[in-house]
Amino acid sequence: MLSRRAILSAAATTTAGLMAAKASVAPNTEWEKIAAHYDVSRDFIQLENGNFGTMARPVFAAYHAHLERINREGSFYARRKAGPDLVAVRAKAAAALGVSSDEILLTRGATEALQVLIAGYDRLKRDDAILVADLDYDSTQAAFHGLEQRRGVKLIAIALPEPATHQGLIDAYEAALKENPAIKLMLVTHVSHRTGLVLPVKEIVAMARTRGVDTIVDAAHSWGQLDFTLPDLGADFVGFTCHKWIGAPLGTGIAYIRKDRQEAIAPALEHIGSGIDERLHTGTTNFAAVLAVSEALDFHNRIGAAAKEARLRGLRNRWAEALRGHRGLEILTPSDPRLTCGITSFRLTGKTSPAENRAVAAELLTRFNIFTVDRPGVAKGACVRVTPSFFTHEAEIDALIGALKAMA
Ligand SMILES: Cc1ncc(COP(=O)(O)O)c(C=O)c1O
Repeated sequence: MLSRRAILSAAATTTAGLMAAKASVAPNTEWEKIAAHYDVSRDFIQLENGNFGTMARPVFAAYHAHLERINREGSFYARRKAGPDLVAVRAKAAAALGVSSDEILLTRGATEALQVLIAGYDRLKRDDAILVADLDYDSTQAAFHGLEQRRGVKLIAIALPEPATHQGLIDAYEAALKENPAIKLMLVTHVSHRTGLVLPVKEIVAMARTRGVDTIVDAAHSWGQLDFTLPDLGADFVGFTCHKWIGAPLGTGIAYIRKDRQEAIAPALEHIGSGIDERLHTGTTNFAAVLAVSEALDFHNRIGAAAKEARLRGLRNRWAEALRGHRGLEILTPSDPRLTCGITSFRLTGKTSPAENRAVAAELLTRFNIFTVDRPGVAKGACVRVTPSFFTHEAEIDALIGALKAMA
């Protein structure tokens, strides 16, 4: 059996080759080298990488090594070593996000992070209103519904424009706030899990702030897919996951609360921890998963966020822009690079029900061996989501183009 040190140093060596790929747009040959760092099934074409991100081999090896060590040392690890190790991971994650450690909490994913922010938000008074949009994630919308029931506030839901434009999206939120001056809190999703639409979060958050409205940002799909840090968004409350585009083990995420806004989120368990730590208590956690966030960030940094964003957008453009305007096919996100990245959904013209889109995704799998997922919940109708990843070959995207032409 390899020692932990041997595995971690092997992981470092295998990723060293990635340094060469660190450029804003790494050429294809470099991306083929990066793809080779992922141990993924090629029995089918995997274009549903929005659910969670497969760990690259060096991250998986490090996770495995952490797990072995922690299982061997048991409570000795938990009681003597976990504390400083978790502090170090937290500092590294905070630095990657461009904020300080006492502004973030390590969570078990974006769902938990956003629950902390939404359920804990305590600036609402009876008869205030709160705002969600159709493209927001189901469980975050449900958490806003919970506020309506528990706090006596009114929930307002808008449909985002389709087709969308950069200004049209800002205007849609501004119009909702103008029409409903009682709105005091809103949810904005940086990258929609339904269509892949990228929202101009910075502009929307700033516009809302001038109207005295707070925004909780769902950044589950943006960190690791788009090149940004928290100061770029200007947001006060943000939920992240590390197990999608950062490529860390399942069960890892982050909640951000800007230092001067921490009193707006009520403590979950008072007197356990202090400051931001009072806002969430996860109990005994999966230490190995959290530790491997560190190696996931190393892998992410070696490729570089800008190169990752460019690659994903390139794979997306390869099919979505090639097929835009094709008879019988609707591409749901616009060509504007500010509004898209790797994820994009399509609809076969006229097929708007969830059942029809489930059938389209099923046909893509049974007839063409291409795995995608149907997404209901879009105001203008359900759709099918296509999500490439860092190990996706261009030939796989070309197979999708052929399949969609045949089906349209
Ligand atoms: C937009 C969005 N928000 C939140 C989540 C929840 O993320 P997690 O799996 O980290 O709880 C997801 C997961 O798919 C998502 O797509």
